Amino acid sequence: MDNNVLSKLTTGMFVVTSAFEDKTNAFIANSLVQVASEPTVLSLSVFGKNFSKELIQNSKKFNVSILSTDATIDFIRVLGYKSGRDVDKLAKVKFTKGENGVPAVTQGACGYLECEVINEVDLESCIVFFAKLTNAVYLDSKDPMTSEYYQKALEGKLPPSSPGWSARYVKEK
Ligand SMILES: Cc1cc2nc3c(=O)[nH]c(=O)nc-3n(C[C@H](O)[C@H](O)[C@H](O)COP(=O)(O)O)c2cc1C
Repeated sequence: MDNNVLSKLTTGMFVVTSAFEDKTNAFIANSLVQVASEPTVLSLSVFGKNFSKELIQNSKKFNVSILSTDATIDFIRVLGYKSGRDVDKLAKVKFTKGENGVPAVTQGACGYLECEVINEVDLESCIVFFAKLTNAVYLDSKDPMTSEYYQKALEGKLPPSSPGWSARYVKEK
């Protein structure tokens, strides 16, 4: 089995925000996919030890900002490598509040999606949330960032706390 081919599974790049009681948080995700329409349903895989998993499980809500190629590697590092248990990541980026009361990051984003969790599946290392789209906001017509752009143009990597960690063996043939 050659895990190198997993690096060819191109995805989008997103910031997922959540809130529960007095806590708010944001993290980088590339595992979000639209899996149905009418109603529009998205799936998102969240690593089991991430702080965001607790906030989303408790609140049953999250927002997703679709990153554009304007987002910088430093911005992605702040949100994708540190835990909200240790730092207030939202204090370092621009955001607004969605209709659902959850923050939505506007910096380096094409727009954002407000989501309500309708189901979840436990995959041991990760939880996959299925969520219905409740609101969508268009911000910018810039190109969306892909995982390929992140890896090649920004020379970005995946941390062990991401569901796509097995795609880290990037070895161009
Ligand atoms: C490019 C990239 C993609 C990522 N994708 C995911 C993902 O889909 N799901 C996930 O749980 N973590 C993903 N991560 C890791 C989280 O962003 C990271 O573990 C974050 O620190 C979790 O923060 P939290 O503990 O505050 O929730 C990704 C990180 C990067 C850099």
